[in-house]
Amino acid sequence: MADAEAIRAFEHAGWERAAGGYEASFATATRTFIPALLDAAGVEAGQSVLDVACGPGFVTAGAAERGAIVRGLDFSAAMLGVARTRHRNIVFDQGDAEALPYPEGHFDAVISNFGIHHVPRPIEALRQAYRVLRPGGRLAFTIWAAPSENIAWKLVFDAIRSEGDMAASRAPAPGGGFGTPTDCESALEQAGFTGISSRKLTGLWHHANGRALLDALRAGTARMAALIEAQSATDIPGIVAAIDRAAAAYRDADGLAIPIAAFVAYGHKA
Ligand SMILES: C[S@@+](CC[C@H](N)C(=O)[O-])C[C@H]1O[C@@H](n2cnc3c(N)ncnc32)[C@H](O)[C@@H]1O
Repeated sequence: MADAEAIRAFEHAGWERAAGGYEASFATATRTFIPALLDAAGVEAGQSVLDVACGPGFVTAGAAERGAIVRGLDFSAAMLGVARTRHRNIVFDQGDAEALPYPEGHFDAVISNFGIHHVPRPIEALRQAYRVLRPGGRLAFTIWAAPSENIAWKLVFDAIRSEGDMAASRAPAPGGGFGTPTDCESALEQAGFTGISSRKLTGLWHHANGRALLDALRAGTARMAALIEAQSATDIPGIVAAIDRAAAAYRDADGLAIPIAAFVAYGHKA
């Protein structure tokens, strides 16, 4: 595994850069799974809820809409700037998922939507979530499914593999390698959780065409953006054309309706 601080620095720079365009790009995918995440954590009115790696705070706001008393936490000042502007009545804290700045047993639920797998040591982040939960409190988090079942990613990876260079990115390897429900459940177990389970979630991500899909991933992500930006400019038209060819099966009247898939994993503190 690459050095944890190198992963953290890479992720931090990536999310600082993505923050401004995130809502219009990647959030159109991540927001699909908010209700399922809140259900998995059993979020309801009156509960004290922490949203880890909150980004622009859409999940935090979703929990607040259910009547929970919420806080969002992220390490990116740029993401927090967007969150504080978009959701003026919610408190957002700057901090790292591996070192949560809250006392033990403080929250009824901890949630994280597509955040945990970006942390250099995801099990550390889960241990921190466990620490700040009250006994009986619940954690739920989402990760993306592997490209074989997550078609938006598959389209881009396949196109880069055939028309570009999959090895071009200089990004350090991710710390967690979370790609399957088993990875998530085993990490939850190592962090001390019980009552562990997970389930697959599916949705559709709408784009006008292959170029729009590539642009959304370039604008609103860290690791995928690094891969796309590392492609030679002369290869991009071929990559876009390959995405469009392979995406023909997902065409509808408005453009492309591309299947996306994720897992929500959850457990509680005994
Ligand atoms: C894909 S975005 C998800 C944002 C939000 N949860 C959503 O559903 O739209 C990943 C977020 O994780 C945050 N993040 C990554 N590593 C982190 C860490 N070690 N500590 C806190 N936040 C982190 C990034 O700044 C970014 O906002």
